[in-house]
Amino acid sequence: MSRFAVITADTDFEHRVRLAAAALPGSLQYFQANFLPASIEDVFDQLVGEPIEVLVLGPDLRSEDVFTFAAAVDARHPHVSVIYAAQPTPELALSAMRSGVRDIVIPAADAEALRSHLEQAASAAASRLAVAPVPSTLDAESGGSHGRIIAVMSPKGGVGKTTIATNIAVGLGKIAPMSVVIVDLDLQFGDVASGLMLNPERTIVDAVGGPMDSLSLKTYLSAHPTNIYALCAPRNPADADRISPDQVAELVKHLAVEFQYVVIDTSPGLGEHVLATLDQATDVVWVCGMDIPSVRGLKSGLEILNELHMLPEHRHVVLNMADKRAGISVQDVEATLGVPVDIVLPRSRSLPLSTNRGVPALQDGLRDPAVKGLRKLVERFKPQWDSREHKQLHRRAVFQ
Ligand SMILES: Nc1ncnc2c1ncn2[C@@H]1O[C@H](COP(=O)(O)OP(=O)(O)O)[C@@H](O)[C@H]1O
Ligand SMILES: [Mg+2]
Repeated sequence: MSRFAVITADTDFEHRVRLAAAALPGSLQYFQANFLPASIEDVFDQLVGEPIEVLVLGPDLRSEDVFTFAAAVDARHPHVSVIYAAQPTPELALSAMRSGVRDIVIPAADAEALRSHLEQAASAAASRLAVAPVPSTLDAESGGSHGRIIAVMSPKGGVGKTTIATNIAVGLGKIAPMSVVIVDLDLQFGDVASGLMLNPERTIVDAVGGPMDSLSLKTYLSAHPTNIYALCAPRNPADADRISPDQVAELVKHLAVEFQYVVIDTSPGLGEHVLATLDQATDVVWVCGMDIPSVRGLKSGLEILNELHMLPEHRHVVLNMADKRAGISVQDVEATLGVPVDIVLPRSRSLPLSTNRGVPALQDGLRDPAVKGLRKLVERFKPQWDSREHKQLHRRAVFQ
């Protein structure tokens, strides 16, 4: 199977690459950025699925950065074909080839031309791979690369978990189209399907009962128009009993191999399914309402998980339905929790409307302070190098 990645912020070019890759076997991973990271591993570490064969660098990247980057790819992952989209002047072509760029395409190339470049580059990569060992970062022993697993949790119900989880998924779908899956682990009363206006044919009950290879997994998912997938909760609450925590853990592990982001909506509290998820999660989003029981509940939740050493690597505390008239302040909440609040989402009139319409606020592009907060939350999950604001600083680092 071929495997493609593209780095660019040029959406038109990205669209043509996507069309080109769609005509070939293997998946495409998209990094939306108009600059390159200081280390190539910042890209390679984010790759999921089958080993990469072709890396396409967009026309909006600086050529000096591309050459430095291509040279590093050539040294560390020599089988990978780097394709650069640029006007091929003789000087540029020479520097490009010397640095390790394997092919140049003109930025205006249409999807058909790009497809042929991708195909050639992939077959060249495959033959280089056949004679060279697979690099250690893609070692089968380490289980390959894994996507980020983001669990959205709270001790209490009705605080906005599903709203936040669906919006995170939709927001990430713009960064990584077709590489985001939202899983509804509120097994009895899940409402991700309703929040996304989906009428799933198959649900998590089918998924845990069947084979979990890459092809079978996709058949359990429902596709959403925002380029994300959803694995919905059982239609019958009684079916929740047929799903064990171990099955949930296994399922999440498999999904993380296939997807760049696995967003998990959960039921309130620290039930066994939620704990099984936490064990796998790279990120947890704690949702807390602006009332004393909610804040206290979260404080004890954090304490318990800390004692059990079950706190995932990245923590994001969201204070939802924030309201000046609540009688407590953000500072009061932080003082009680003992950890900072990362995102404050004000009480909003549009969010309940979007829940009822089944169209997440980030899909609608609503203008609302809470929606702005949701966007900020999504930013926290972008690849680290991609979210850097100091591009100049970063460029200096490349040339050191
Ligand atoms: N910031 C907010 N302001 C106003 N209403 C909100 C806000 N966040 C969520 N809601 C609404 O609160 C209700 C419960 O939210 P939901 O996401 O279903 O919570 P949970 O999944 O934690 O039970 C929904 O109708 C939702 O639209
Ligand atoms: Mg919910």
